[in-house]
Amino acid sequence: MKGIFITFEGVEGSGKSTQIRLLEKYLQKQGIDHFITREPGGPPISEAIRKLLLDVNNSEMVPETELLLYLASRAQHTAQWIIPALEQGKIVICDRYTDSSLAYQGAGRRLSANVINVLTSFATRNLKPDITFLLDIDVEVGQARIQNRKLDRLEKESLNFHMQVRQEFLRLAKQHQDRYIIIDGSRGVQEIHELIVEHMKTHIRSL
Ligand code: TYD
Repeated sequence: MKGIFITFEGVEGSGKSTQIRLLEKYLQKQGIDHFITREPGGPPISEAIRKLLLDVNNSEMVPETELLLYLASRAQHTAQWIIPALEQGKIVICDRYTDSSLAYQGAGRRLSANVINVLTSFATRNLKPDITFLLDIDVEVGQARIQNRKLDRLEKESLNFHMQVRQEFLRLAKQHQDRYIIIDGSRGVQEIHELIVEHMKTHIRSL
């Protein structure tokens, strides 16, 4: 595919959304063709699934259902939006992707990583990110940053759950050093933005 697929990962409050917004402004200024999206979500079918997943009233949802819904949302998003944008040569930036399933449903909910990997390949037609930025931050610092928000079903999970999630992201970063860039999420917003742009420049000649 002609485009470049970039994902952002991290625990709650790690600053992904802020950084994606800054990167979007930068790419706009540079006149680089890009497409910004997020998971769970994207096209209408995926957004409908997102509502089910994050609804705090769905406390009966079992881990298996949760995984399959994230993957159903991802399958639609990948086929309908992400792959076509990459085929058009765009830089596609996605807030969370498959590594979030390994971190939250795997490490957090204790579902088998093998099962998640097999189902993920199926759901994504084997699409993998070219670059993944991990905004790594202490879980308690992240939680403090989001304390004023109305928390969704996943955000309401325990500190211990989120600590497992963070550890899994760090493990994935070690395992996939070819695509992962770990960034210390406790640094200043502007400083992190500049680091991200620098890394992008090493991968994308036109930047
Ligand atoms: P969102 O409001 O987009 O949170 P954030 O800004 O932290 O990304 O909600 C997404 C939630 O879904 C978040 O708590 C992480 C969780 N999630 C999973 O558990 N598995 C997944 O595969 C994905 C993509 C997200």
